[in-house]
Amino acid sequence: MENLLFINSCVRGEKSRTLKLARRFLTRYQAAHPETVITERDVCADRLQPQYPEVLAERDELWNAGQLDQPMFEAARQFAAADKIVIAAPFWDLSFPAALKIYLERISVTDITFGYDTDGKGVGLCKASKLLYITTRGGYYAGTPLDIATAHIKGLGVMYGIPDVRFLDAEGLDDIRNDKQALLDAAMERADALAEEF
Ligand SMILES: Cc1cc2nc3c(=O)[nH]c(=O)nc-3n(C[C@H](O)[C@H](O)[C@H](O)COP(=O)(O)O)c2cc1C
Repeated sequence: MENLLFINSCVRGEKSRTLKLARRFLTRYQAAHPETVITERDVCADRLQPQYPEVLAERDELWNAGQLDQPMFEAARQFAAADKIVIAAPFWDLSFPAALKIYLERISVTDITFGYDTDGKGVGLCKASKLLYITTRGGYYAGTPLDIATAHIKGLGVMYGIPDVRFLDAEGLDDIRNDKQALLDAAMERADALAEEF
């Protein structure tokens, strides 16, 4: 049975436009793939600690002792085992909310989500064949160097060994000249189409 991990990083909760777009994708995906088990992880509810000195020290100690089965590494193990992954996060300050960065730091664990071969070359260890990153932005940044979020997620996809990394977005949602609902509706239609073939 296929499992899809949904990383919900939408800080505004159910009011979030990004989350509405993600829920539309997931509803359509579930309808098209009824056998898939979707597991949601809410990074705001998780309240994972940033890697402050004492957290990092504990992590290093456990890792050096080979104790990768400890709760410290639970999020990394879950991420590494997922068949497909969807991350939803609003565009914040050219990137994404810090809560997602904390999550990404916590799952980036050597020998769980990535590792090194005998030549010292990085190898991804995640099982997922596909990752979809869903976002909405107030302005227009897609395809520009100021969209740090996309570059970051693409890089992590390579590091984790996930061969197919895709992006779904809605832009210009805070531009008063725009019909926000029309922009969101168009993105919902793109979500429907993507859900059929993701
Ligand atoms: C803290 C914060 C930072 C933001 N930074 C940006 C930004 O750098 N560029 C931009 O176009 N929009 C920015 N926005 C606007 C959001 O990207 C936009 O409103 C988005 O649709 C919010 O998604 P949500 O409804 O899922 O929360 C920011 C919003 C917040 C709250």
